[in-house]
Amino acid sequence: MTTDQQDQALRFFNMTAKEWRRKAEGAIASKVNVVAERNATVLRVAAGRAAAGNPVTAFLDIGCGTGELVIAMAERCQKALGIDFASEMIALCNQTRGEKRLDNVSFATGSIFDHAFGEQTFDIISAMGLIEYVSVSELEKLAALCHRLLRPGGSLLVGSRNRLFNIFSLSAYTEMELDLETVTSLLRESTALAGIERSDAAIAACRALPGSYPSVSSHPITGIGVDTRHQYAPSELIHMFEIGGLTARGLFPIHFHGLCVPAAKSHRTLYVDIAAAINALAPTDHRLVPQASSFVLHFEKA
Ligand SMILES: C[S@@+](CC[C@H](N)C(=O)[O-])C[C@H]1O[C@@H](n2cnc3c(N)ncnc32)[C@H](O)[C@@H]1O
Repeated sequence: MTTDQQDQALRFFNMTAKEWRRKAEGAIASKVNVVAERNATVLRVAAGRAAAGNPVTAFLDIGCGTGELVIAMAERCQKALGIDFASEMIALCNQTRGEKRLDNVSFATGSIFDHAFGEQTFDIISAMGLIEYVSVSELEKLAALCHRLLRPGGSLLVGSRNRLFNIFSLSAYTEMELDLETVTSLLRESTALAGIERSDAAIAACRALPGSYPSVSSHPITGIGVDTRHQYAPSELIHMFEIGGLTARGLFPIHFHGLCVPAAKSHRTLYVDIAAAINALAPTDHRLVPQASSFVLHFEKA
């Protein structure tokens, strides 16, 4: 059974697959390439594993969109699989696969919750830009599914819209948090993250936080035609995925905002340039997360 949120997401992504590809390829100059920033995080984790003598043999990308990450990972592993429920997205993925004559890549159309994996397991699983389109109970299912599909020592990388950024965006999202009376809690988490230099200690501090803040089911408009696009604070996802049996190992900022959202609209070039400059620090400095509109969490299976 699918939710209205998933139905809307399916319709939206089938209608906008070609536009998504342009976005993923960085063809829109006035925009920060969030897709590329997220994908780079996955590629870095794969490179780190290879350098440690633990290369990736099997890779899975959930909600693969137009497939850029799957194709990039295919050059670094034996087998790469991308799954997306939007057939228009998968059609573009297969077109690229054909053009590049890659025979270690496959793409499947269908919901991650329905796919028959059999005995398949993976060294790295990623889900970038996916979890905002699933309900909280589906997210709990996803955490358990990823735990099952990962090999021991395997990595899960989850990209999320960042709720902490609502405090710094000074936008309709800030007003939403003011109405929810969550500003103090979100500011407390932001301060904890920014005040701790070691990322393992910052993650431990997140574990000590409540793990869930009051939220709403319909969010201010962002240009994506899906009414419910969940956002999470890092602590919320750490709690949820660790209950699913995984352990958080890294937290990375994605799309740093040097200007608040209203000012960024008037100073596009400066805003894009700041994001690009700060992105160089993303692999090593989780303290930038509160001012980033997304983040990626890296979990490992014991
Ligand atoms: C925002 S796009 C991100 C695409 C890609 N990961 C990227 O970063 O460019 C989210 C994708 O998730 C897919 N999706 C959403 N729910 C899904 C589900 N239950 N199973 C498979 N794909 C899903 C959508 O069709 C869409 O292509």
